Amino acid sequence: MLTRSIVLIGLTGSGKTTVGKRLSQQLDCPFVDTDEVVSETAGLAVREIFEREGEPAFRALESNALEAIFADATPKVIAAAGGVILAEQNRRSIKDSHSHVVWLDAQPRNLLKRISIGSHRPLLDDNPGATLMQMSIERRALYSDLADLRVDANGRDINRIVKIVFNYVSAQGAS
Ligand code: S3P
Repeated sequence: MLTRSIVLIGLTGSGKTTVGKRLSQQLDCPFVDTDEVVSETAGLAVREIFEREGEPAFRALESNALEAIFADATPKVIAAAGGVILAEQNRRSIKDSHSHVVWLDAQPRNLLKRISIGSHRPLLDDNPGATLMQMSIERRALYSDLADLRVDANGRDINRIVKIVFNYVSAQGAS
């Protein structure tokens, strides 16, 4: 049984949702995605929030979503959207939650090959390659500082990543 939550962090397209869902099945615990909580709370798709209210409003909703997720103490697997780590308040909440923080680390050029442009990623509408590169430069140190475990997510082998995280959490005596 999982005793502490797992927070998956990393750039958009690094596999947080796919890995998170698979892990939650294996660990028999709930799965939560911050984008989904934001969207459900606002009653709008992520893209619509960006378009109607702007990024600062989205970021505020995102912080609220994270607080709400941690307010429920049930251990779970949490996919934290790529930009969650930008706000100091969010980084503090993640640290204070004593979760296992796992960074799915992949190069922008590999992410570019597999993300779907459009959907919930309005920041990548224009020049996704350069934007991802810029995000990586700005965020790398934040992901690294927060992470207990860094997993190379450049390949497409989701099962391998799930196994690494599962083994890590098991070795910590938490499952
Ligand atoms: C964002 C990542 C997206 C979504 C929004 C902003 C970011 O989530 O929250 O488009 O700033 O990196 P994913 O990481 O799930 O793609």
